[in-house]
Amino acid sequence: MDIVFHEGAKQFHLFNDEISYIIGVLPNGEPGQLYYGKRIRDKEDYSYLVNYEYRAMMVGMPSDERFSLEFNRSEYPSFGTSDLRLPAFEIEYANGSHVSAFRYTDHKISAGKPGLEGLPAVYTEDDAEAMTLTLNLKDELTGIELSLLYTIFRDCPVITRSVLFENKGTEEVSLERCMSLSLDLPDNDYVWMQFSGAWARERKPIEKKLEAGVTAIGSLRGHSSANQNPFVILKRPCADEFQGEAIGAALVYSGNFLSQAEVDTYGTTRFMTGIHPDRFSWSLAPGEDFQTPEAVLVWTDKGLNALSQTLHSLYRKRLSRGAWKEKERPILLNNWEATLMDFTEESVLKIARKGKEAGVELFVLDDGWFGKRDDDFAGLGDWYVNTDKLPKGITGLAEKIHDMGLMFGLWFEPEMVNPDSDLYRAHPEWVLATPGRERSLGRHQMVLDMTREDVQEYLYERMHTIIGEAKIDYVKWDMNRTISECFSEAHPAKEQGKTYHRYILAVYRLYERLISDFPELLFESCSSGGSRFDAGMLYYAPQAWGSDDTDAVERLKIQYGSTYGYPLSSIGAHVSECPNQQTGRITPIATRGNVSFFGTGGYELDLNTLADDEFDDVKRQIVFLKKYRGLIQSGTFYRLLSPFEDNYCAWMVVSEDKSKAVFAYYRVMAEPNPGHRRVKLKGLDENALYRIGDESYYGSELMNIGVEISAAPGPLDPPTGDYDSRLLVIES
Ligand code: DGJ
Repeated sequence: MDIVFHEGAKQFHLFNDEISYIIGVLPNGEPGQLYYGKRIRDKEDYSYLVNYEYRAMMVGMPSDERFSLEFNRSEYPSFGTSDLRLPAFEIEYANGSHVSAFRYTDHKISAGKPGLEGLPAVYTEDDAEAMTLTLNLKDELTGIELSLLYTIFRDCPVITRSVLFENKGTEEVSLERCMSLSLDLPDNDYVWMQFSGAWARERKPIEKKLEAGVTAIGSLRGHSSANQNPFVILKRPCADEFQGEAIGAALVYSGNFLSQAEVDTYGTTRFMTGIHPDRFSWSLAPGEDFQTPEAVLVWTDKGLNALSQTLHSLYRKRLSRGAWKEKERPILLNNWEATLMDFTEESVLKIARKGKEAGVELFVLDDGWFGKRDDDFAGLGDWYVNTDKLPKGITGLAEKIHDMGLMFGLWFEPEMVNPDSDLYRAHPEWVLATPGRERSLGRHQMVLDMTREDVQEYLYERMHTIIGEAKIDYVKWDMNRTISECFSEAHPAKEQGKTYHRYILAVYRLYERLISDFPELLFESCSSGGSRFDAGMLYYAPQAWGSDDTDAVERLKIQYGSTYGYPLSSIGAHVSECPNQQTGRITPIATRGNVSFFGTGGYELDLNTLADDEFDDVKRQIVFLKKYRGLIQSGTFYRLLSPFEDNYCAWMVVSEDKSKAVFAYYRVMAEPNPGHRRVKLKGLDENALYRIGDESYYGSELMNIGVEISAAPGPLDPPTGDYDSRLLVIES
């Protein structure tokens, strides 16, 4: 890994063993993108990649009209000079103009990677792991400066980017758009992959061939959303899971976002991602600065599994933090689907006791323990225990759970308030609401104005006290509605464009304070399931509830789709009761277990209601999980058969040293007299002899001949029915 500056040509070459990223100062003084892709040999000058051409209707540089930004690739383009494509940033100056001219002034190359104040970001633990290039640019006319930050990692094909704006001029300006990265690519031969959905059907991969015009996704809901995820892939049409070139781009941010690709009339592609510019406007007075969130770029020529594996390992090791980031996750039992809000201390203790008997390690009390919270019409905001349900308080309950030898976890939804709550009656001004307009409700609740100091202090005091007094081990931080009528009474009119971003910064701040007070605490983020499932959240909470849909068949898709951008250790996945509460489907308990293993693993039902044989199955599942969760949560994950394309789904995880693997396959609908199906395994050591049950096979056999997943049944075998699944442990 190195970052080389070629002074004569004014070019920067960032490279490691796998990738090269080359930036050159263009003839007009702004940085241009010259190359991004597979590592190439370094040389002094790549100026042949700068374009000079003359075409009708173009505009060019006054001193040489043949140089136009329109025909060159920019690092951080603005709109309105010789480039009229969509810009990466836009500043409104004091005189109302919007044209900028940021020119390279100097740069810094440093070891390691700086943190971003108040924002989640990938980090290094040792300066030798990465190098950072800071390119400093200045707009001479106004004195505004901006710094483009690029960090390249030594051991993986990843570059992170972000931008710092500093007003060193004398007049206030307004930042109207500031993407975290912009990447101009020389052609448009890409398939765009986005991960879209809705409540209970999150992160479905959708593919579109890039064509002339704009392809875009985003969120204006105040959170990253289940509708679109702030992660996209651009892959070559011939790339698949196992081979081919692809670029992944993730935004490390949990608020409104935009990711888009513009293909121009000449067939080049401009990709960008960052805070959504709609409803964003950030005034910068002289002396003030603004730091964009970070974006992660990953490149591969080895297919989508390789791309995902790079992100999995980066997020596990250098995005998530704290005591739990690489620890085996506790097997939890959550009472939500078992009781909803209708419980007493005795009823939850009964559920926890059965969990202990089964072998679970953490009991989580979900919604309904505070205020007058008997249904979702009341109580949110009143973070004082409901002693009708829990006479000894949370502390008393936690003590009993701890005495059983279980860890204790608690649900909060700090960002919300019900109109029917003491908090709202005392502070109706504490919500986000537009003066004179109706206050829309979502799940009968409103969103607290997290940008207010008093709101932040109230929530911090309540959470800090409860967590501290009850010695809580785990917090599920929920967020169950989108933001509407976004307006903060605490701030003047001209700052309303800052509200969405300030909101998410305040959420991050509250997380950060609690993390530093309780470094051993495990956070699981949640937003009506997976509506804030993003890289930003993983910096604070190493796991996130994957979806409110706990049906095993639906979960195959949700978890499969999630693995494109996120590690298994981050995907909250539980076995729940049947008929399933979201779909009414009845699936075998074995299949429910086999799906939940490929996530954090856990239970979300009253185990007392299971028949004896099912309870015994649960006990066996927990024994299995305790033995193999380390491998599953930290191994190399491969998608093998997609449930979006097939009646079968298959995936596997291989330990880092390749000595062990767990392979699972699922057949959704039963088939009579099925055809033969084989799946070729991946990632094993070809020369190692592996055991599967009583049989032994070389890695090369398993990877080239494969494993039969649909053998014809024997003459006396009963049909196995729908939703069948198998798990194979492969050990050398
Ligand atoms: C939505 C979450 O996704 C559920 O798991 C549960 O915690 C409910 N909220 C509680 O209100």
